[in-house]
Amino acid sequence: MKALNINLQIKEYERAEELSEGYQLLIKKASDAAHGAYAPYSTFYVGAAVLLENGEIITGNNQENAAYPSGLCAERVALFYANAHFPNVKVNAIAIVAFLNNQTMADEPVPPCGSCRQVIMESQLRQQKPVTLILVGKNKIQLIEDASLLLPLYFNKRMLL
Ligand code: THU
Repeated sequence: MKALNINLQIKEYERAEELSEGYQLLIKKASDAAHGAYAPYSTFYVGAAVLLENGEIITGNNQENAAYPSGLCAERVALFYANAHFPNVKVNAIAIVAFLNNQTMADEPVPPCGSCRQVIMESQLRQQKPVTLILVGKNKIQLIEDASLLLPLYFNKRMLL
């Protein structure tokens, strides 16, 4: 037997002001986007803002559906839009924030779901450059500077060969 240990570094901040101005703007854009979510079923309003290497910011929010599984998370709405419109531009970072009842920011940072982690990883592998995740909560902000840290055993194209 051999044990493999994975080291996950999370940088935690108490306030957005501790981050760069660029990241503060990204968080603001994610918050603004969250309020436009369509989330009548969960009433959990999520916003995501993707910072591209060319400085462009693409936002998205969760889109729910009466047929529940047909909805999509904020992260994938934003990333797929970015990929559709800027297919050759790398993704530097994605900020994620959520509001309960579209009013109160979630206390704890909201980590992306498993499917969104897989999609963020695809961007990272495609561009061969790490994507920084900025997870925003009322009580703290977490920065994770490589998406693979949140999905160490990610499924990838090597398995299809
Ligand atoms: N949701 C997101 O948009 N992103 C996440 O990271 C977690 C979950 C959405 C999906 C659904 O519309 C609602 O939040 C409750 O799960």
